[in-house]
Amino acid sequence: MRRYSRVTGTGSYLPPRRLTNDDLARQLAEKGIETSDEWIVERTGIKARHFAAPEVCSSDLALQAARPALAAAGLDASQIDLIVVATSTPDMVFPSTACLLQHKLGAEGGAAFDVQAVCSGFVYALSVADAMIQTGAANKALVVGAEVFSRILDFNDRTTCVLFGDGAGAVVLEASETPGILASDLHADGKHAGILCVPGHVSGGKVLGDPLLKMDGQAVFKLAVGVLETSARAVLAKADKTAAEIDWLIPHQANIRILQSTAKRLKLGMDKVMVTVDQHGNTSAASIPLALDAGIRAGSIVPGQLLLLEGVGGGFTWGSVLLNL
Ligand code: UT7
Repeated sequence: MRRYSRVTGTGSYLPPRRLTNDDLARQLAEKGIETSDEWIVERTGIKARHFAAPEVCSSDLALQAARPALAAAGLDASQIDLIVVATSTPDMVFPSTACLLQHKLGAEGGAAFDVQAVCSGFVYALSVADAMIQTGAANKALVVGAEVFSRILDFNDRTTCVLFGDGAGAVVLEASETPGILASDLHADGKHAGILCVPGHVSGGKVLGDPLLKMDGQAVFKLAVGVLETSARAVLAKADKTAAEIDWLIPHQANIRILQSTAKRLKLGMDKVMVTVDQHGNTSAASIPLALDAGIRAGSIVPGQLLLLEGVGGGFTWGSVLLNL
């Protein structure tokens, strides 16, 4: 009998410190940098974001998201045999944030590793875990997107620092005889590495190069809207489904205009698009599982529905996962 994977629990966590656009604008004004709630809302749809306290790392946020996901699945951490964490802001160069999370959960022995695909990280991680469950390499997986992007923001660059936030989202994926995940579609094109990157690296005990986020927003925007449509159509075709059958589109939350454009290209009403960018900002690999969990906990996303998860970001990377909840 064919093995599939199914989402059996979700969880998410936002650090308590919430900054509205006005809060951020006030802080930037002290450095002589001008921005406004009006500009940020009009160009991005973002109204607020959460920033983690300085001592809080991605694995701490991941832990807070993993616990409710495990509880929702009715599992103990010791039953998890695979942990995949999608993050571009790991606690350390190594070991992986997944190993640190495993220990914080009080688990041991199962496989644990990180996936680095920036804002596409969660769909990459979910499809890797799905593939491992399908082949029998794992039975019960915890897939987490966790980020502390506030650490890599340049607060002298108003074109980027107003866009991002911190948070984590998690799903438990379990082997099942019925799907579950129907199809996935992953892509990358490394020639666009320069349009969204943190170019610094550690060498000889020093950080060489710029360790803060750089983005050509317009170039990213243009690529994003194109690939999100193509990937959505590709994953739907793989599963023999149509866009009209989608109950919820849960895209990476970067900019409300990108979400609107994707919905329009797929002829979906905005009432079928999960939107959290207004309250979370762009939390990179955490944004999709945060939006998924928010929708489930609000009672909007319910079992049996067809969900299209889509990510796009640095690399350049993009991809989709289509699933029956
Ligand atoms: O997660 C990975 C994926 N990332 C994304 O998807 C991000 C994609 N890109 C975007 O979302 C948008 O390109 C941005 C939100 C980053 C920028 O929006 P835009 O409509 O492309 O604005 P722009 O870069 O064309 O800037 C327009 C104006 C400029 O002023 P001038 O040159 O017209 O005088 C900027 O200097 O807005 C100015 N500006 C700001 N003004 C106030 C840029 N940032 C700010 C700011 N506050 N924070």
